Amino acid sequence: MINVGLVGIGNIASMLIQSVEYYRRLDSTFGLLHELIGRYRVGDIRFSYAIDISREKVGVDLSDAIFAYPNMVRRFIDIPKLGVTVRMGKVLDGVAPHMLEDFRPAHLPEPSLKDIVRDLIDNGVDILVNLLPVGSEEASRFYAKAAVEAGVAFVNAIPVFIASGNDTIRDYAFKNKTPILGDDIKGQLGSTIIHRALASLVKMRGARVIETYQLNIGGNTDFKNMLLLERLASKKESKTMAVASTQDNPEELVREERVYAGPSGYIPFLGNTKISHMYIKAKAFADTDVEIEVKLKVDDKAMAVAVLVDTIRVAKILKDHRIGGSINWASAFYFKHPPQPVRSDYEALQLLYKGLEELGEQVKPRLIEYY
Ligand SMILES: NC(=O)c1ccc[n+]([C@@H]2O[C@H](COP(=O)([O-])OP(=O)(O)OC[C@H]3O[C@@H](n4cnc5c(N)ncnc54)[C@H](O)[C@@H]3O)[C@@H](O)[C@H]2O)c1
Repeated sequence: MINVGLVGIGNIASMLIQSVEYYRRLDSTFGLLHELIGRYRVGDIRFSYAIDISREKVGVDLSDAIFAYPNMVRRFIDIPKLGVTVRMGKVLDGVAPHMLEDFRPAHLPEPSLKDIVRDLIDNGVDILVNLLPVGSEEASRFYAKAAVEAGVAFVNAIPVFIASGNDTIRDYAFKNKTPILGDDIKGQLGSTIIHRALASLVKMRGARVIETYQLNIGGNTDFKNMLLLERLASKKESKTMAVASTQDNPEELVREERVYAGPSGYIPFLGNTKISHMYIKAKAFADTDVEIEVKLKVDDKAMAVAVLVDTIRVAKILKDHRIGGSINWASAFYFKHPPQPVRSDYEALQLLYKGLEELGEQVKPRLIEYY
Protein backbone atom coordinates (compact mmCIF):
# COMPACT_ATOMS: atom_id res chain seq x y z
CA MET A 1 0.00 0.00 0.00
CA ILE A 2 1.15 3.55 -0.73
CA ASN A 3 -0.18 6.37 1.46
CA VAL A 4 -0.46 9.55 -0.54
CA GLY A 5 -1.02 13.10 0.66
CA LEU A 6 -2.22 15.77 -1.77
CA VAL A 7 -1.57 19.53 -1.71
CA GLY A 8 -4.18 21.32 -3.84
CA ILE A 9 -7.49 19.49 -4.25
CA GLY A 10 -8.21 20.75 -7.76
CA ASN A 11 -9.00 19.01 -11.03
CA ILE A 12 -5.93 16.75 -11.07
CA ALA A 13 -6.69 15.55 -7.52
CA SER A 14 -10.25 14.75 -8.63
CA MET A 15 -9.07 12.82 -11.68
CA LEU A 16 -6.41 11.02 -9.63
CA ILE A 17 -8.72 9.86 -6.84
CA GLN A 18 -11.44 8.76 -9.26
CA SER A 19 -9.04 6.91 -11.56
CA VAL A 20 -7.31 5.03 -8.75
CA GLU A 21 -10.76 3.83 -7.64
CA TYR A 22 -11.62 3.02 -11.26
CA TYR A 23 -8.52 0.89 -11.82
CA ARG A 24 -8.84 -0.80 -8.43
CA ARG A 25 -12.49 -1.71 -8.94
CA LEU A 26 -12.23 -2.79 -12.58
CA ASP A 27 -8.94 -4.57 -12.05
CA SER A 28 -8.10 -3.23 -15.51
CA THR A 29 -4.76 -2.20 -16.95
CA PHE A 30 -6.06 -0.59 -20.14
CA GLY A 31 -4.59 2.87 -20.71
CA LEU A 32 -1.83 2.58 -18.10
CA LEU A 33 1.82 3.16 -18.91
CA HIS A 34 2.87 0.48 -16.43
CA GLU A 35 0.70 -2.14 -14.84
CA LEU A 36 3.39 -2.99 -12.31
CA ILE A 37 6.28 -0.94 -10.99
CA GLY A 38 8.22 -3.05 -8.53
CA ARG A 39 5.43 -4.77 -6.65
CA TYR A 40 3.04 -1.82 -6.86
CA ARG A 41 -0.17 -1.56 -8.89
CA VAL A 42 -2.25 1.60 -9.30
CA GLY A 43 -4.83 0.06 -6.98
CA ASP A 44 -2.24 0.06 -4.15
CA ILE A 45 -2.48 3.86 -3.92
CA ARG A 46 -4.46 5.19 -0.91
CA PHE A 47 -5.19 8.79 0.03
CA SER A 48 -4.49 9.55 3.64
CA TYR A 49 -3.98 13.33 3.79
CA ALA A 50 -5.19 16.40 1.90
CA ILE A 51 -4.57 20.14 2.08
CA ASP A 52 -6.29 23.07 0.35
CA ILE A 53 -7.17 26.64 1.30
CA SER A 54 -10.60 26.98 -0.31
CA ARG A 55 -13.64 27.47 1.93
CA GLU A 56 -15.48 25.08 -0.44
CA LYS A 57 -13.01 22.27 0.31
CA VAL A 58 -11.40 22.71 3.76
CA GLY A 59 -13.23 20.73 6.46
CA VAL A 60 -14.92 18.52 3.85
CA ASP A 61 -14.29 14.79 3.30
CA LEU A 62 -11.87 14.37 0.40
CA SER A 63 -14.43 12.27 -1.51
CA ASP A 64 -16.74 15.35 -1.65
CA ALA A 65 -14.07 18.05 -1.87
CA ILE A 66 -12.94 16.76 -5.27
CA PHE A 67 -16.36 17.73 -6.69
CA ALA A 68 -16.53 21.14 -5.00
CA TYR A 69 -16.46 24.45 -6.89
CA PRO A 70 -14.59 25.27 -9.13
CA ASN A 71 -13.48 21.68 -9.94
CA MET A 72 -15.00 20.39 -13.16
CA VAL A 73 -13.82 16.79 -13.70
CA ARG A 74 -16.99 14.81 -14.36
CA ARG A 75 -18.02 12.22 -11.75
CA PHE A 76 -17.29 8.94 -13.53
CA ILE A 77 -17.23 6.59 -10.53
CA ASP A 78 -18.71 6.65 -7.03
CA ILE A 79 -16.11 7.40 -4.42
CA PRO A 80 -16.88 6.05 -0.95
CA LYS A 81 -16.28 8.39 1.99
CA LEU A 82 -12.50 8.42 2.42
CA GLY A 83 -12.43 9.49 6.06
CA VAL A 84 -9.86 12.15 5.16
CA THR A 85 -10.88 15.70 5.99
CA VAL A 86 -9.23 18.38 3.88
CA ARG A 87 -7.01 20.49 6.15
CA MET A 88 -6.41 24.22 5.92
CA GLY A 89 -3.08 24.99 4.26
CA LYS A 90 -0.83 28.04 4.12
CA VAL A 91 -1.95 30.44 1.39
CA LEU A 92 1.36 32.25 0.72
CA ASP A 93 1.50 32.88 -3.08
CA GLY A 94 -0.94 30.10 -4.01
CA VAL A 95 -3.78 32.45 -4.92
CA ALA A 96 -3.25 35.14 -7.54
CA PRO A 97 -5.43 38.27 -7.17
CA HIS A 98 -7.51 37.36 -10.23
CA MET A 99 -8.17 33.85 -8.79
CA LEU A 100 -9.68 34.97 -5.45
CA GLU A 101 -13.22 34.29 -6.68
CA ASP A 102 -12.26 30.81 -7.88
CA PHE A 103 -10.04 29.57 -5.06
CA ARG A 104 -11.98 31.47 -2.29
CA PRO A 105 -9.47 31.28 0.59
CA ALA A 106 -11.07 30.29 3.92
CA HIS A 107 -10.68 32.66 6.87
CA LEU A 108 -9.10 30.08 9.13
CA PRO A 109 -5.84 29.93 11.07
CA GLU A 110 -3.02 28.74 8.83
CA PRO A 111 -0.70 25.91 9.91
CA SER A 112 2.99 26.33 10.67
CA LEU A 113 5.67 24.19 9.05
CA LYS A 114 5.83 22.16 12.27
CA ASP A 115 2.07 21.51 12.13
CA ILE A 116 2.33 20.09 8.61
CA VAL A 117 5.37 17.96 9.50
CA ARG A 118 3.50 16.52 12.48
CA ASP A 119 0.37 15.89 10.38
CA LEU A 120 2.37 14.08 7.70
CA ILE A 121 3.99 11.82 10.27
CA ASP A 122 0.76 11.21 12.23
CA ASN A 123 -1.10 10.25 9.05
CA GLY A 124 1.62 7.85 7.91
CA VAL A 125 2.03 9.67 4.58
CA ASP A 126 4.60 8.09 2.22
CA ILE A 127 4.36 10.52 -0.70
CA LEU A 128 3.23 14.15 -0.83
CA VAL A 129 2.10 15.29 -4.30
CA ASN A 130 2.25 19.01 -5.09
CA LEU A 131 -0.73 20.14 -7.19
CA LEU A 132 -0.72 23.88 -6.47
CA PRO A 133 -1.46 26.49 -9.14
CA VAL A 134 1.40 27.54 -11.43
CA GLY A 135 3.39 30.38 -9.87
CA SER A 136 3.11 29.03 -6.29
CA GLU A 137 6.84 29.37 -5.68
CA GLU A 138 6.85 30.06 -1.95
CA ALA A 139 3.95 27.74 -1.16
CA SER A 140 5.53 24.83 -3.06
CA ARG A 141 8.83 25.28 -1.22
CA PHE A 142 7.00 25.47 2.08
CA TYR A 143 5.26 22.11 1.52
CA ALA A 144 8.39 20.52 0.02
CA LYS A 145 10.36 21.49 3.12
CA ALA A 146 7.68 20.03 5.38
CA ALA A 147 7.71 16.78 3.39
CA VAL A 148 11.48 16.43 3.55
CA GLU A 149 11.53 17.23 7.26
CA ALA A 150 8.91 14.52 7.83
CA GLY A 151 10.85 12.02 5.67
CA VAL A 152 7.99 11.98 3.15
CA ALA A 153 8.82 11.68 -0.57
CA PHE A 154 7.84 14.75 -2.59
CA VAL A 155 6.43 14.53 -6.12
CA ASN A 156 6.38 17.98 -7.68
CA ALA A 157 3.84 18.00 -10.51
CA ILE A 158 4.13 21.72 -11.17
CA PRO A 159 6.71 24.00 -12.84
CA VAL A 160 8.43 25.32 -9.73
CA PHE A 161 12.03 24.21 -9.94
CA ILE A 162 12.55 22.18 -6.77
CA ALA A 163 13.88 18.83 -8.07
CA SER A 164 15.73 20.68 -10.84
CA GLY A 165 16.70 23.83 -8.93
CA ASN A 166 19.53 24.77 -6.62
CA ASP A 167 17.48 24.77 -3.47
CA THR A 168 18.98 23.68 -0.20
CA ILE A 169 15.89 21.42 -0.01
CA ARG A 170 17.61 19.03 -2.43
CA ASP A 171 20.68 18.67 -0.20
CA TYR A 172 18.52 18.30 2.85
CA ALA A 173 16.47 15.62 1.08
CA PHE A 174 19.66 13.76 0.19
CA LYS A 175 20.85 13.80 3.81
CA ASN A 176 17.41 12.85 5.09
CA LYS A 177 17.14 9.94 2.59
CA THR A 178 13.96 11.47 1.19
CA PRO A 179 13.37 11.41 -2.57
CA ILE A 180 12.16 14.41 -4.59
CA LEU A 181 10.77 13.84 -8.09
CA GLY A 182 10.04 16.64 -10.55
CA ASP A 183 9.49 19.11 -12.00
CA ASP A 184 6.27 19.67 -13.98
CA ILE A 185 4.54 16.44 -14.95
CA LYS A 186 4.70 15.45 -18.63
CA GLY A 187 1.30 14.19 -19.83
CA GLN A 188 0.79 10.72 -21.29
CA LEU A 189 -0.06 12.00 -24.79
CA GLY A 190 0.18 15.71 -24.04
CA SER A 191 1.61 18.49 -26.14
CA THR A 192 5.13 18.18 -24.72
CA ILE A 193 5.61 14.50 -25.53
CA ILE A 194 4.12 14.88 -29.04
CA HIS A 195 6.12 18.01 -29.79
CA ARG A 196 9.31 16.36 -28.52
CA ALA A 197 8.65 13.25 -30.60
CA LEU A 198 8.17 15.32 -33.78
CA ALA A 199 11.25 17.45 -33.12
CA SER A 200 13.30 14.29 -32.42
CA LEU A 201 12.02 12.75 -35.64
CA VAL A 202 13.18 15.77 -37.64
CA LYS A 203 16.63 15.36 -36.17
CA MET A 204 16.67 11.59 -36.60
CA ARG A 205 15.96 12.04 -40.32
CA GLY A 206 19.00 14.29 -40.77
CA ALA A 207 17.03 17.57 -40.90
CA ARG A 208 17.07 20.54 -38.50
CA VAL A 209 14.37 22.42 -36.63
CA ILE A 210 14.57 26.07 -37.68
CA GLU A 211 11.61 27.44 -35.74
CA THR A 212 8.74 25.94 -33.83
CA TYR A 213 5.80 26.86 -31.65
CA GLN A 214 3.23 25.14 -29.47
CA LEU A 215 0.08 27.07 -28.52
CA ASN A 216 -2.14 25.65 -25.82
CA ILE A 217 -5.66 26.67 -24.88
CA GLY A 218 -8.01 25.32 -22.23
CA GLY A 219 -10.92 26.34 -20.01
CA ASN A 220 -10.20 25.35 -16.40
CA THR A 221 -8.69 27.17 -13.41
CA ASP A 222 -5.23 25.97 -14.45
CA PHE A 223 -5.49 27.97 -17.70
CA LYS A 224 -7.25 30.91 -16.02
CA ASN A 225 -4.52 31.13 -13.38
CA MET A 226 -1.90 31.25 -16.14
CA LEU A 227 -3.45 34.41 -17.66
CA LEU A 228 -1.18 36.35 -15.31
CA LEU A 229 2.08 36.58 -17.19
CA GLU A 230 4.29 36.88 -14.13
CA ARG A 231 3.09 33.45 -12.89
CA LEU A 232 3.97 31.91 -16.23
CA ALA A 233 7.71 32.30 -16.49
CA SER A 234 8.61 28.86 -15.13
CA LYS A 235 5.86 27.10 -17.14
CA LYS A 236 7.18 28.64 -20.36
CA GLU A 237 10.76 27.76 -19.48
CA SER A 238 9.80 24.21 -18.59
CA LYS A 239 7.81 23.62 -21.81
CA THR A 240 10.27 25.45 -24.07
CA MET A 241 13.33 23.60 -22.75
CA ALA A 242 11.48 20.28 -23.06
CA VAL A 243 11.23 20.87 -26.81
CA ALA A 244 14.57 22.65 -27.40
CA SER A 245 16.51 19.94 -25.53
CA THR A 246 15.73 17.44 -28.31
CA GLN A 247 18.02 19.41 -30.67
CA ASP A 248 21.80 19.87 -30.89
CA ASN A 249 21.56 23.64 -30.30
CA PRO A 250 18.95 24.14 -27.53
CA GLU A 251 20.56 27.30 -26.08
CA GLU A 252 20.79 28.95 -29.50
CA LEU A 253 17.16 28.13 -30.33
CA VAL A 254 15.99 29.60 -27.05
CA ARG A 255 18.31 32.66 -27.18
CA GLU A 256 17.15 33.53 -30.69
CA GLU A 257 13.53 33.00 -29.63
CA ARG A 258 12.94 30.37 -32.30
CA VAL A 259 11.08 28.04 -29.92
CA TYR A 260 7.85 28.98 -28.21
CA ALA A 261 5.87 26.55 -26.09
CA GLY A 262 3.40 27.66 -23.48
CA PRO A 263 -0.17 28.33 -22.42
CA SER A 264 -1.78 30.73 -24.86
CA GLY A 265 -5.34 31.37 -23.84
CA TYR A 266 -8.24 30.69 -21.51
CA ILE A 267 -11.51 29.74 -23.20
CA PRO A 268 -14.04 28.77 -20.49
CA PHE A 269 -16.27 26.53 -22.63
CA LEU A 270 -13.34 24.17 -23.26
CA GLY A 271 -13.36 23.06 -19.61
CA ASN A 272 -10.71 20.39 -19.05
CA THR A 273 -10.24 19.86 -22.79
CA LYS A 274 -6.88 21.14 -23.89
CA ILE A 275 -6.22 22.02 -27.50
CA SER A 276 -2.69 22.35 -28.68
CA HIS A 277 -1.49 23.61 -32.06
CA MET A 278 2.07 22.68 -32.94
CA TYR A 279 4.11 23.96 -35.82
CA ILE A 280 7.64 23.03 -36.91
CA LYS A 281 9.62 24.52 -39.74
CA ALA A 282 12.63 22.38 -40.63
CA LYS A 283 15.43 22.50 -43.16
CA ALA A 284 15.91 19.17 -44.93
CA PHE A 285 17.72 17.74 -47.95
CA ALA A 286 19.36 20.35 -50.24
CA ASP A 287 18.26 23.14 -47.86
CA THR A 288 14.58 22.68 -48.68
CA ASP A 289 11.86 23.75 -46.22
CA VAL A 290 9.52 21.31 -44.54
CA GLU A 291 6.55 22.46 -42.48
CA ILE A 292 4.63 20.27 -40.04
CA GLU A 293 1.39 21.30 -38.34
CA VAL A 294 -0.44 19.20 -35.77
CA LYS A 295 -3.56 19.75 -33.70
CA LEU A 296 -3.94 17.79 -30.47
CA LYS A 297 -7.14 17.62 -28.41
CA VAL A 298 -6.99 15.85 -25.05
CA ASP A 299 -8.50 15.59 -21.59
CA ASP A 300 -5.70 17.47 -19.92
CA LYS A 301 -6.27 16.00 -16.46
CA ALA A 302 -6.40 12.37 -17.61
CA MET A 303 -3.09 12.91 -19.42
CA ALA A 304 -1.42 14.23 -16.27
CA VAL A 305 -2.80 11.54 -13.97
CA ALA A 306 -1.68 8.69 -16.26
CA VAL A 307 1.86 9.78 -15.49
CA LEU A 308 1.30 10.74 -11.85
CA VAL A 309 0.24 7.18 -10.94
CA ASP A 310 3.64 6.01 -12.20
CA THR A 311 5.64 8.69 -10.38
CA ILE A 312 3.90 7.94 -7.09
CA ARG A 313 4.97 4.29 -7.38
CA VAL A 314 8.54 5.18 -8.40
CA ALA A 315 8.77 7.59 -5.44
CA LYS A 316 7.60 4.82 -3.10
CA ILE A 317 10.27 2.47 -4.42
CA LEU A 318 12.97 5.11 -3.82
CA LYS A 319 11.58 5.63 -0.34
CA ASP A 320 11.54 1.87 0.33
CA HIS A 321 15.23 1.76 -0.64
CA ARG A 322 15.97 4.88 1.48
CA ILE A 323 17.33 6.79 -1.52
CA GLY A 324 17.14 10.53 -1.01
CA GLY A 325 17.65 13.74 -2.97
CA SER A 326 16.67 14.60 -6.50
CA ILE A 327 17.16 11.51 -8.67
CA ASN A 328 17.45 12.25 -12.39
CA TRP A 329 16.78 8.72 -13.65
CA ALA A 330 13.51 8.66 -11.72
CA SER A 331 12.33 12.02 -13.12
CA ALA A 332 13.63 12.33 -16.69
CA PHE A 333 10.96 10.20 -18.36
CA TYR A 334 8.07 11.63 -16.39
CA PHE A 335 8.69 15.37 -16.05
CA LYS A 336 9.14 18.28 -18.46
CA HIS A 337 11.91 19.89 -16.42
CA PRO A 338 13.96 17.13 -14.74
CA PRO A 339 17.23 17.85 -12.92
CA GLN A 340 19.18 17.17 -16.15
CA PRO A 341 17.36 17.32 -19.47
CA VAL A 342 17.58 14.14 -21.52
CA ARG A 343 17.53 14.50 -25.30
CA SER A 344 15.07 11.75 -26.21
CA ASP A 345 12.27 10.04 -24.35
CA TYR A 346 13.75 6.70 -25.39
CA GLU A 347 16.95 7.59 -23.53
CA ALA A 348 14.89 8.75 -20.54
CA LEU A 349 13.01 5.44 -20.46
CA GLN A 350 16.28 3.50 -20.65
CA LEU A 351 17.57 5.49 -17.67
CA LEU A 352 14.42 4.72 -15.70
CA TYR A 353 14.58 0.99 -16.35
CA LYS A 354 18.30 0.84 -15.58
CA GLY A 355 17.76 2.71 -12.30
CA LEU A 356 14.96 0.37 -11.27
CA GLU A 357 16.88 -2.74 -12.31
CA GLU A 358 19.88 -1.67 -10.22
CA LEU A 359 17.53 -1.68 -7.24
CA GLY A 360 16.29 -5.14 -8.20
CA GLU A 361 12.85 -3.76 -9.19
CA GLN A 362 10.99 -4.77 -12.35
CA VAL A 363 8.38 -3.07 -14.53
CA LYS A 364 5.55 -4.52 -16.58
CA PRO A 365 5.13 -3.97 -19.49
CA ARG A 366 8.60 -2.96 -20.68
CA LEU A 367 7.61 -0.07 -22.94
CA ILE A 368 11.10 0.08 -24.39
CA GLU A 369 10.19 -2.91 -26.56
CA TYR A 370 7.65 -0.75 -28.44
CA TYR A 371 10.16 1.93 -29.44
N1 LIG B 1 -1.96 18.26 -17.80
C1 LIG B 1 -2.09 18.91 -16.64
O1 LIG B 1 -3.17 19.09 -16.12
C2 LIG B 1 -0.85 19.41 -15.96
C3 LIG B 1 0.42 19.08 -16.45
C4 LIG B 1 1.54 19.56 -15.76
C5 LIG B 1 1.38 20.34 -14.62
N2 LIG B 1 0.13 20.66 -14.17
C6 LIG B 1 0.01 21.52 -13.00
O2 LIG B 1 -0.60 20.83 -11.89
C7 LIG B 1 -1.15 21.81 -11.01
C8 LIG B 1 -2.52 21.37 -10.56
O3 LIG B 1 -3.42 21.39 -11.65
P1 LIG B 1 -5.00 21.39 -11.41
O4 LIG B 1 -5.64 21.40 -12.74
O5 LIG B 1 -5.38 20.38 -10.40
O6 LIG B 1 -5.18 22.86 -10.74
P2 LIG B 1 -6.50 23.49 -10.09
O7 LIG B 1 -6.51 24.93 -10.44
O8 LIG B 1 -7.69 22.67 -10.47
O9 LIG B 1 -6.28 23.28 -8.51
C9 LIG B 1 -5.40 24.02 -7.71
C10 LIG B 1 -5.84 23.84 -6.26
O10 LIG B 1 -4.85 24.42 -5.40
C11 LIG B 1 -5.52 25.02 -4.30
N3 LIG B 1 -4.60 25.96 -3.64
C12 LIG B 1 -4.25 27.23 -4.02
N4 LIG B 1 -3.32 27.72 -3.16
C13 LIG B 1 -3.11 26.77 -2.22
C14 LIG B 1 -2.24 26.70 -1.08
N5 LIG B 1 -1.43 27.71 -0.76
N6 LIG B 1 -2.25 25.56 -0.33
C15 LIG B 1 -3.08 24.51 -0.67
N7 LIG B 1 -3.90 24.54 -1.74
C16 LIG B 1 -3.92 25.65 -2.51
C17 LIG B 1 -6.73 25.64 -4.95
O11 LIG B 1 -7.75 25.97 -4.00
C18 LIG B 1 -7.16 24.52 -5.91
O12 LIG B 1 -8.02 23.61 -5.26
C19 LIG B 1 -1.14 23.14 -11.80
O13 LIG B 1 -0.05 23.91 -11.40
C20 LIG B 1 -0.93 22.68 -13.22
O14 LIG B 1 -0.34 23.66 -14.06
C21 LIG B 1 -0.98 20.20 -14.82
